[in-house]
Amino acid sequence: MPRKSSPRTDSDCSRRDFLKTSTVAAGALAGGLGIGRAAHAAGDDTLKIGLVGCGGRGTGAAVNAMRADPNVKLVAMADAFEDRLKSSLTGLKKQMPDKVDVDDDHCYVGFDGYKHICDDKDIDVVLLATTPHFRPMQLKAAIDAGKHVFCEKPVAVDGPGIRSVLATAEEAKKKKLSLVSGLCWRYHTGTQEVMKRVVDGAIGDVMAVQSTYNTGTLWHRGRKEDDTEMAYQMRNWYYFAWLSGDHNCEQHVHSLDKASWAMNDQPPLKAWGLGGRQVRTDPKWGDIYDHHAVVYQYESGARVYSFCRQQAGCKSEVTDHFFGTKGHCDVLGGYQITGENPFKFRGTSPSMYDAEHVALFESIRSGQPINNGRYMAISTMLAVLGRMVNYTGQEITWEQAINTEEKLAPESYGWDVDPPTMPDENGRYPVAMPGVTKIV
Ligand SMILES: NC(=O)c1ccc[n+]([C@@H]2O[C@H](COP(=O)([O-])OP(=O)(O)OC[C@H]3O[C@@H](n4cnc5c(N)ncnc54)[C@H](O)[C@@H]3O)[C@@H](O)[C@H]2O)c1
Repeated sequence: MPRKSSPRTDSDCSRRDFLKTSTVAAGALAGGLGIGRAAHAAGDDTLKIGLVGCGGRGTGAAVNAMRADPNVKLVAMADAFEDRLKSSLTGLKKQMPDKVDVDDDHCYVGFDGYKHICDDKDIDVVLLATTPHFRPMQLKAAIDAGKHVFCEKPVAVDGPGIRSVLATAEEAKKKKLSLVSGLCWRYHTGTQEVMKRVVDGAIGDVMAVQSTYNTGTLWHRGRKEDDTEMAYQMRNWYYFAWLSGDHNCEQHVHSLDKASWAMNDQPPLKAWGLGGRQVRTDPKWGDIYDHHAVVYQYESGARVYSFCRQQAGCKSEVTDHFFGTKGHCDVLGGYQITGENPFKFRGTSPSMYDAEHVALFESIRSGQPINNGRYMAISTMLAVLGRMVNYTGQEITWEQAINTEEKLAPESYGWDVDPPTMPDENGRYPVAMPGVTKIV
């Protein structure tokens, strides 16, 4: 597949200026028309999308994006693996033939595809949905290049990554670019309604949060005969902490995000916890744990008790409970509050995956950028801190964790490069050992 992006003639700036001026002018003329639609009526205001990471979520996000606005086109795609890109493109073309306009010259395979998408002056919006490890560098490249971004969760796997995301989010603000996070519960109507009340004090001061994400096991994609170690780990990224952040980061971040929301997105002072790998003993499960329990302590005296487990045959539970001085909020169990100010959400919630893209494209059309950067970084950092306390067996402060120099990354990226975690002669990967593993 070709890997070079095509040259373009008009400048990014002039295109954006057009979008902005046509929006304002048409909006003024069209009165009741929504601003996006008004802009549409004014001429060629197609918003062009580039997708980075064409797996399950990336493909889904592309559909959500194409559904979100009447005048968008998917024009470029990048994935580490050619087969992932091809199957995603085939499926998308079938599902939305009128909105998919990706030719061979705009399909990029390998580690650097995102650079071509960011360099492509025709592209307005970049969807980032690779494995979490790559998010900080790809987000920075997209914002540096002046793109609006949809950014899947989690947004990093280590302290340096979080610091990079926070800096990039500030840059997006300065450039008036939209940065919408894939922490989708923030865009779910029932959750928004109940959380609004929690934040406004309906349950009083939040004293304790029980945050639970206990599920069974997930996929494993096996090892192909000609896989290098890097290719094997990239294919099975979930099981390598340097790529996924561990499952408390990759999956449980959704719950930690709601907990953080309830705490007004203020970081905790410190955390301690315990975790391990009881059933994930086979080397094929890489180096991540299968259970984590973490206690986060806040300045107010409040605590977040966080649990996540991925073990087959055990009780599954995905819930968020907030206990306050005036009541209790059960988010996923009916979006309800009991106590002094009872509430139960009785409306309907449209797809939160669609809603986050509707918000993104509306913000671009209206020239009123959304920036979810801070909360997506804080919520991800909660998960990273949780992994750090469990891997080391130590109590670690927020400041220590976010300022750590521990960078989970290889020297460079390439199929023949050694990943940061290598198997021993028996094929076993080194697993973090509480009490032995050190904070870097
Ligand atoms: N918001 C949600 O509810 C939700 C749901 C599922 C997944 N996710 C998130 O979406 C992300 C992707 O998950 P998924 O389930 O789609 O996984 P996946 O394995 O199906 O897809 C990831 C894709 O990214 C590609 N990729 C990895 N590194 C790359 C790189 N450097 N450049 C280009 N492509 C690269 C992989 O080859 C793969 O095709 C994860 O961060 C995951 O946590 C979010």
